[in-house]
Amino acid sequence: MNEAMKTPSEARAASGGKNAWVLAVTSGKGGVGKTFVSANLAAGLAKRGHRVLVLDADLGLANLDVVLNLFPKITLHDVFTGKAQLEEAILVAPGGFSVLLAGSGLVEYSRLTPEVRDKFQAVLATLVPRYDYVVLDTGAGISDVVLYAVSLADEVLVVATPEPTSMTDAYATIKVLATQQRRRTLRLVVNQVAKPGDGKIIAQQLQNVVDRFVSTPQGESVRLSLLGDIPSDPSVREAVQRRQLLLESLPGSAAARAIQAVAARVDTPDERG
Ligand SMILES: Nc1ncnc2c1ncn2[C@@H]1O[C@H](COP(=O)(O)OP(=O)(O)OP(=O)(O)O)[C@@H](O)[C@H]1O
Ligand SMILES: [Mg+2]
Repeated sequence: MNEAMKTPSEARAASGGKNAWVLAVTSGKGGVGKTFVSANLAAGLAKRGHRVLVLDADLGLANLDVVLNLFPKITLHDVFTGKAQLEEAILVAPGGFSVLLAGSGLVEYSRLTPEVRDKFQAVLATLVPRYDYVVLDTGAGISDVVLYAVSLADEVLVVATPEPTSMTDAYATIKVLATQQRRRTLRLVVNQVAKPGDGKIIAQQLQNVVDRFVSTPQGESVRLSLLGDIPSDPSVREAVQRRQLLLESLPGSAAARAIQAVAARVDTPDERG
């Protein structure tokens, strides 16, 4: 059984509980807030006292650097090509967490070759003993690179918005993850809701479709576990424009409070499994 076939709790147990909990943030549809959630969730977990690293798994189309206002001289690209050591590519972000940026030179790695697989896995294996959480911010869609990055995670967090196109793409992603990776529990964050509580409605709608049409190859049902909803909030764009992290610059905003609540739920071991 490879790592990806393990349930989150099995993978956790196999590491003796010492390794970082690897969380992949994915969506299907692009532009729904994966990078926003990844960066601010990392800041939220760091605020809770954890050692956190965000890995830009959006190989080839990085934008985490823009959001965090970081200008890395050395990126994952240099590590992959052997020009630099992994340690040199790790930056400290304003939110008190570490970041590993892909670098735009990684376009050549946007295809999943055996080489990319090996390098990616080796990098992750080096990182997990050093952190409490590793967050993989993936690219849009369900390309083989995205699916591979997600396959390395203990837990998958699907970001969806109430838009029908986002929900359809989230559904497609959930179906692929259930059938190809035997994911039985997926965490859900509903971003850009009009009012609190909308996330629950969206989650229920998605769950209904999943119950009807999705199961693992072993016939197991798939559960969506809602981590919370995040309101559509002008503060988010304001923070991006200032190139600051929302949780740092506008911690009292509705979206910041919502994402801090998501971090608290991610950080509740009882909820795992
Ligand atoms: N809750 C929110 N309220 C308002 N704007 C938001 C919210 N969440 C995200 N946004 C805005 O939506 C845009 C897309 O967000 P982000 O870059 O995080 O999406 P993404 O899913 O990572 O995109 P990609 O698929 O291109 O990687 C950004 O401009 C961000 O500021
Ligand atoms: Mg992104």
